[in-house]
Amino acid sequence: MTKILTIGASSSQNSINRTLANYVAHQVNGAEVNLLDLNDYEMPIYSIDREKASGMPALAEQFKQRIIESDAIVLSLAEHNGTYAAAFKNIIDWASRIEGKLWEDKPMFLLATSPGGRGGKTVFEAFQAYWPKKGANVVAAFSLPGFYQNFSADEGILTDDLKTNFLTQLAQFQEAIIQNSLSVSE
Ligand SMILES: Cc1cc2nc3c(=O)[nH]c(=O)nc-3n(C[C@H](O)[C@H](O)[C@H](O)COP(=O)(O)O)c2cc1C
Repeated sequence: MTKILTIGASSSQNSINRTLANYVAHQVNGAEVNLLDLNDYEMPIYSIDREKASGMPALAEQFKQRIIESDAIVLSLAEHNGTYAAAFKNIIDWASRIEGKLWEDKPMFLLATSPGGRGGKTVFEAFQAYWPKKGANVVAAFSLPGFYQNFSADEGILTDDLKTNFLTQLAQFQEAIIQNSLSVSE
């Protein structure tokens, strides 16, 4: 079974990005969905001085280990003032200091959603501009605007053109997972 690490990049209890990531991961055929809650990885705010004084927090190592143990990643970004939610940024800053590429080249379905009309597009684009250098293998990407109008827990993505686009990306993600598992087993 494909192990999918599923991350809503928000510490909010009612995170719409966690909801979306969880929904999307459950659409993948034959997947074991492993939800990661950012609240389980709360650490002091990163600083080089803290790192020198106290080393790497065990939680940062554990976060990285969750990536290593996964076969694929579904990541949905919350947007705060045009960028990452602070809770997520802190975790990735710490974990990026561990040797190797943070995202380990695992096939990733990148998502973002917000209640507004841009669907978190600014942070969505920022992620794609930077993190591929650090092993983010974004094989599918979809941003959902107007979450409360365009998503329902029962029916998923509601609007036809959004749904068509989403299903294309989902098929791409599934194909990349298959190809990756074939190359790993060679
Ligand atoms: C401090 C703060 C800044 C925000 N900035 C943005 C923003 O730049 N763009 C946007 O689309 N929504 C913004 N929002 C609204 C969020 O998209 C909304 O709170 C959303 O629910 C966050 O995702 P989450 O539910 O997964 O935490 C902001 C919300 C907060 C609390």
